[in-house]
Amino acid sequence: MKKLFDLLDKPKPFAPHTTDFWDDEHISKGMLEAHLAPDVDAASRTAAFMDASADFIARRLPPEHYEKVLDLGCGPGLYAKRLRERGYKVKGVDISRRSIRYAKEQFPGIDFVCQDYLSLTETNQYDLVLLLYCDFAVLPPDDRKQLLDKIRQALRRDGRFLFDVFTPQAFLNREEIHTWFKEQSGFFRKEPHLCLESYIPYGDDVHLERFILIDENGNVEAIHNWHQAYTYDRLRQELLSSGFDIESSYGDAKGSVSNKKSETLCVIAF
Ligand SMILES: C[S@@+](CC[C@H](N)C(=O)[O-])C[C@H]1O[C@@H](n2cnc3c(N)ncnc32)[C@H](O)[C@@H]1O
Repeated sequence: MKKLFDLLDKPKPFAPHTTDFWDDEHISKGMLEAHLAPDVDAASRTAAFMDASADFIARRLPPEHYEKVLDLGCGPGLYAKRLRERGYKVKGVDISRRSIRYAKEQFPGIDFVCQDYLSLTETNQYDLVLLLYCDFAVLPPDDRKQLLDKIRQALRRDGRFLFDVFTPQAFLNREEIHTWFKEQSGFFRKEPHLCLESYIPYGDDVHLERFILIDENGNVEAIHNWHQAYTYDRLRQELLSSGFDIESSYGDAKGSVSNKKSETLCVIAF
């Protein structure tokens, strides 16, 4: 009960999950299914979006000049596959063993590695680094800084970093909510459990989606999905403080023109 009561307090910004999220045996099964669902924006964008996104990347940063690509948080390799088809040499890195196993089986010939991207050690290797589907902004500020340093180090001198983030527009009109439901078996747990679900806006464009899971034996865990929403200026300031600047920006990762209603911001940084 003490752990439950502690977890029900408003956590400090970017407090981690109390359990494995990306590499959990059960969650990663549902996650892979969500990645592979072609018609929904779930763990990956829709197949049509990813096709358009790969076309945009090939148009804007063609393989003739940006051949060597490092895809961070590559999931089951859905972008890596599309980029190889367009002439790139891709290495995919992901922390989920299940996703990397799938990617290796399905797309032989592409280099996939199961690794935490915060522990990258490569230097001066890549023409282009990708971090797609708004993954940058789920990290705590110190990890974002560390990741930018690693990416800077992995890129060749004239390389590019393309990634996307959510904007404040994506959270507009969302109000704090606390609810609960009981499941026999669900996305987070195979066994029967209670899920206490919250959405908590923190101010300063930080948002938390929290799932507290209680199983029949009284075990309690919390999943904390954080998001830092970014305006263009905020993102540019953060990039500048890590030695990057923005070359061009778009409303999404398929190169749409950005406008006031865009819920994502995609940038090419150098
Ligand atoms: C929202 S999914 C996006 C997957 C892929 N980029 C796409 O668009 O299809 C985020 C991915 O990042 C991976 N991930 C999360 N944290 C990571 C870390 N620290 N190191 C490597 N991969 C990570 C997850 O396993 C997951 O596959």
